[in-house]
Amino acid sequence: MRKLAIFASGNGSNFQALADSVQKGTLDAEIVLLVCDKKDAFVIQRAKEAGIPAFSCSPKEYENKAAYEQAILDQLHIADAEMIILAGYMRLIGPTLLSAYRGRIINIHPSLLPAFPGLNAIEQAYEKGVKVTGVTIHYVDEGVDTGPIIAQEALQIEGSEAIETLTARVHRVEHALYPKTIAALLKKSEGVT
Ligand code: GAR
Repeated sequence: MRKLAIFASGNGSNFQALADSVQKGTLDAEIVLLVCDKKDAFVIQRAKEAGIPAFSCSPKEYENKAAYEQAILDQLHIADAEMIILAGYMRLIGPTLLSAYRGRIINIHPSLLPAFPGLNAIEQAYEKGVKVTGVTIHYVDEGVDTGPIIAQEALQIEGSEAIETLTARVHRVEHALYPKTIAALLKKSEGVT
């Protein structure tokens, strides 16, 4: 069974969707570690309830980014994690993690990339007045929400829709698309070590 590490920074609703899918058996994988860069993030509570080990680490406690990522890398190796799944991890992945896990780091972003990368993507799309937005799942490279696209799902924005309604709809799409896409990826790579 494939061993996944999930990285998150906040609420962790995508972490929850992935943990629930593993629990239900629709995602044939094991979540071996949650990595969280905010010690008071709600996602840590979710991990505790799901019985998933968490490593919370504040970058401020390390000399530099390389030292911070090396500490994470050590935990990933101890947990024997094969892939990194970013689920609302609001930090750029640096060379230390990228070189160790190149091609094995995946991110979810709440827009149709390459439109609206970075922070507050749902708000950015809403304020721009676009009629279609969506969700993108992609491999991670050096950039901000760049890297080869794996899956996308589009959503129409209704003219009179409130931002809260749109946000909830985007999250619903994320919670279904992320586990489904990872399950399909793992299936495709079965037998590949
Ligand atoms: C999600 O919408 C995710 O796509 C987004 O952060 C949110 C985290 O929510 N990620 C990015 O914007 C990455 N650039 P969650 O903590 O409830 O899963």
